[in-house]
Amino acid sequence: MSEKTITLTNNSDGRTVDLPLYKGTIGPEVMDIGKLYSGMGIFTYDPGFIATGSCRSSITYIDGDKGNLWYRGYPIEQLAERAKFLEVAYLLLYGELPSLDQLSEFERIIRYHSMINETLKNFFDGFHFNAHPMAVMVGVVGSLSAFYHDSLDINNPRHREISAHRMIAKMPTIAAASYKHNVGEPFIYPRNDLDYCANFLHMMFATPCEEYVPDPLAVKAVNLLFILHADHEQNASTSTVRLAGSSQANPFACLASGIASLWGPAHGGANEAVLDMLREIGDVSNVDKYIAKAKDKNDPFRLMGFGHRVYKNHDPRATIIRKVCHEILESMADTDNPMFELALRLEEVALEDEYFVERKLYPNVDFYSGIIYRALNIPNSMFTVMFAIARTVGWMAHWMEMMSDPQQRIGRPRQIYTGHDRRDYVGIERR
Ligand code: CMC
Repeated sequence: MSEKTITLTNNSDGRTVDLPLYKGTIGPEVMDIGKLYSGMGIFTYDPGFIATGSCRSSITYIDGDKGNLWYRGYPIEQLAERAKFLEVAYLLLYGELPSLDQLSEFERIIRYHSMINETLKNFFDGFHFNAHPMAVMVGVVGSLSAFYHDSLDINNPRHREISAHRMIAKMPTIAAASYKHNVGEPFIYPRNDLDYCANFLHMMFATPCEEYVPDPLAVKAVNLLFILHADHEQNASTSTVRLAGSSQANPFACLASGIASLWGPAHGGANEAVLDMLREIGDVSNVDKYIAKAKDKNDPFRLMGFGHRVYKNHDPRATIIRKVCHEILESMADTDNPMFELALRLEEVALEDEYFVERKLYPNVDFYSGIIYRALNIPNSMFTVMFAIARTVGWMAHWMEMMSDPQQRIGRPRQIYTGHDRRDYVGIERR
């Protein structure tokens, strides 16, 4: 960290304050405003955290103008092309790519944590069959906080590591079970001879009557999507996990809070919303009408899968996935997929439209991810659940990083109070 400072002057009373300026490995300089209130008596105001950093992190780097996304320094394009999901999970958790031995040991640990306690199944029965799988995920993952008393000391790094392993291992099992509950089929146990992504597909699609042989192309697609969704620095759900964890809450409860935040259509729920939107548009001939609706400030309709808080050039995940989307649909002999044709037309029109160009609104990763999942027969309601499985790695990596940070304090934003000034209580008979 640099010794540079910046001096702020309040023009109305002449008070000044010197604030430290930091520089990370790469990226813009950052002003530390921690002493602003004590030095000058004012707070900052930044709804949505447009220009506010909440922590130091060495996990993921994004340059939104250049469209760069790196995990621990490795460009997402290289990882997406060459790595396995659990290799990326190891990288995000531990900071370095694993050796062969380290990876096989990590895979073994994850495999042997993939079963869920039999009593956990009772929690699913508390949900109506048509409960949204994300609602089930929030509840069931939260309920894990009532288990594992042997390793819940959040001040013990080894306990934190075990919690991370448990969560990464159990998420596919819980996710598949939430789907099985939805369709009224029995839960399928994990299989230790399958890799992480194939095992998830097995738990989704096998039944006690029929084995499911995972299609290698489907496994490859899920592996890729999981890598692309594994982390994205201080997004809404990760910040939620960090904020919940900052009060030293139970890690599984923190994770449930992250899942809740991810569910919203402005965040991870966008992949499901894109498919709903494409269904609503229905036909290429309606594209212009819906583009006009998206631009109309009096209409709540937004083009789902477009725009991003950070990416103002292109979303590198979208570039990777768009290509793969073509390949998958072609290999699945599904080139006539009308949904994909409609998506491409929408993309074409939006990318030329002044409104979208001016605001730098480009298709994001979730414009395409739902189309791929749909081609793999994964139902719409499971799209955000798939995102949650992958993002669990990022959530746990950030939670572990935060818990080992000596500067970590409870997260506690300030506010501009806009309510009444002081007033006196009036008895009910006089109101
Ligand atoms: N359709 C139409 N207009 C849009 C859209 C959109 N999808 N996104 C942004 N705008 C407009 C917005 O109305 C505003 O216009 P103006 O300046 O005239 O008021 C301008 O663009 C800036 O938008 P913003 O809402 O201030 O930007 P934000 O950074 O707060 O929101 C976003 C980012 C992703 C929530 C938003 O672009 C959005 O709602 N997109 C659709 C949902 C979506 O696809 N989300 C997935 C994000 S990628 C997956 C993930 O990582 O979670």
